[in-house]
Amino acid sequence: MSQDNLIDGKALSGIIREEIRVEAEKIKEERGRSPKLVAVIVGENPASQSYVRGKVRACDAAAFNSETIKLPDSTSEEALIEVVLKLNTDESVDGFIVQLPLPDHINSDNIIMAIDPKKDVDGFHPVNFGKMAQGLPAFLPATPFGIITMLERYGVETSGKQCVVLGRSNIVGTPISILMSRKAKVGNATVTLTHSRTKNLKEELRRADIIIAAIGIPNFVTEDMVKDGVVVIDVGINRVEDSSRKSGYKLVGDVDFEPVRNKASLITPVPGGVGPMTVCSLLWNTLLAAKGSIYK
Ligand code: GUN
Repeated sequence: MSQDNLIDGKALSGIIREEIRVEAEKIKEERGRSPKLVAVIVGENPASQSYVRGKVRACDAAAFNSETIKLPDSTSEEALIEVVLKLNTDESVDGFIVQLPLPDHINSDNIIMAIDPKKDVDGFHPVNFGKMAQGLPAFLPATPFGIITMLERYGVETSGKQCVVLGRSNIVGTPISILMSRKAKVGNATVTLTHSRTKNLKEELRRADIIIAAIGIPNFVTEDMVKDGVVVIDVGINRVEDSSRKSGYKLVGDVDFEPVRNKASLITPVPGGVGPMTVCSLLWNTLLAAKGSIYK
């Protein structure tokens, strides 16, 4: 396969963010204020802090207002719910997210359930999830939304294709498997959702026209598991030790990139693939919230 087979999520997200910025400027003119996103973060998880910083930077670049609410690790579930309820009714806030994972003493389901679906720009609330599953207008979760946007903008035909999803998380594997199978422009695929109990995983993967890997195991998908011409979407962002770097680590995906790239017709790199698209989807959802496009 040619080496010209990268899906450049960083470049694509730059293009879409510029489209979002233009829309945000229009909203600002019409209603006198920019769309506003608030991110709530509890504790000191370095990866979460880095993601939230990225989201806030993206807001600044897109002419959005943003705010980060940082709470200590010791915050109780009740106190966090109080913060969520305040944001639900704060009219200056169009959408907000509570960064996951939360400390072990907080039940994240209870937090997600407390978020008003109209402001749930992560698309994690069961109301948004249920609407998505039924093909109704809903905030789509950011990573799956980013993936379908990439497939659409790169003109990947999904109809009638065999799509194998690796991993059944609530925020990636399960929703992307629903989106890929629904009747829509990007969709109509025959989807197999695989997980830790799947038998003959290699055979399943070798049948796939499209692989979406979201299991969080570095370099899990190897060259012998994929067929020639496969389209590979790598959602994994795994830190592996690398003493040659100042940080002491490097980021790798769930896919053994170079060897699989040689067989793929299209593949996303890590970093620079799905990650930047995720942030872009969050901004897009916030824009939809500000415009009242999903909920009036
Ligand atoms: N943790 C990892 N990904 C996400 C995400 O998309 N949203 C939130 N809130 N937390 C996350």
